[in-house]
Amino acid sequence: MKVISFLNPKGGSGKTTAVINISTSLARSGKSIAVVDTDPQMSLTNWSKAGKAAFDVFTAASEKDVYEIRKGLSDYDFVIVDGAGSLSVITSAAVMVSDLVIIPVTPSPLDFSAAGSVVTVLEAQAYNRKVESRFLITRKIDQALMLNVLKESIKDTGVKLLRTAITQRQVYVKSILDGNSVFETSDSSAKGEIEVLAKEIISSFE
Ligand SMILES: Nc1ncnc2c1ncn2[C@@H]1O[C@H](COP(=O)(O)OP(=O)(O)OP(=O)(O)O)[C@@H](O)[C@H]1O
Ligand SMILES: [Mg+2]
Repeated sequence: MKVISFLNPKGGSGKTTAVINISTSLARSGKSIAVVDTDPQMSLTNWSKAGKAAFDVFTAASEKDVYEIRKGLSDYDFVIVDGAGSLSVITSAAVMVSDLVIIPVTPSPLDFSAAGSVVTVLEAQAYNRKVESRFLITRKIDQALMLNVLKESIKDTGVKLLRTAITQRQVYVKSILDGNSVFETSDSSAKGEIEVLAKEIISSFE
């Protein structure tokens, strides 16, 4: 069992959208997946009430719930943690139990500083145990200047960037509103990029 957490206290950085779609892709490839919603706003838990999730959903109400993940959910191939929209004790707990931390960031330069706080938590943790980490560009738009500024900021942290990004697409918004992932739509570009991304994430364990 591997724990992968999607963490960035910046609201709207695309954590929940990434978690729903990547988890669906992994489940479709035959892995058993548990998703843990640590956000007090419970958007992922509420999304799952439509009953169409390809994975099991658990809600963590406290840091204690997060610390129990490794034991309680050890029968799954992957446990995916959807982080909260604020830097809380839950974020530190998620780093503690993770094998891999993914930091979703949008190309907007003003949004980057919140991501740095996750890197700080990761560095503090590194004294005890090495936790792998990667940035993930979400809501990617064709804007060379913004992307270059973002890539420079990422480079400065020393944390690696996943090659595959999630593009800004209406289908990500629409599918989630319908209680689905992009895999229940006919958008092959979106499905394709999520599949490539899921494989890239898994390959970091090989
Ligand atoms: N790739 C994308 N293309 C278009 N819209 C997107 C994409 N990813 C996310 N969004 C939209 O951006 C908004 C924020 O996304 P999301 O809820 O996934 O972020 P979050 O980091 O989980 O936010 P929070 O911190 O509030 O939980 C949502 O309205 C979502 O539909
Ligand atoms: Mg969210």
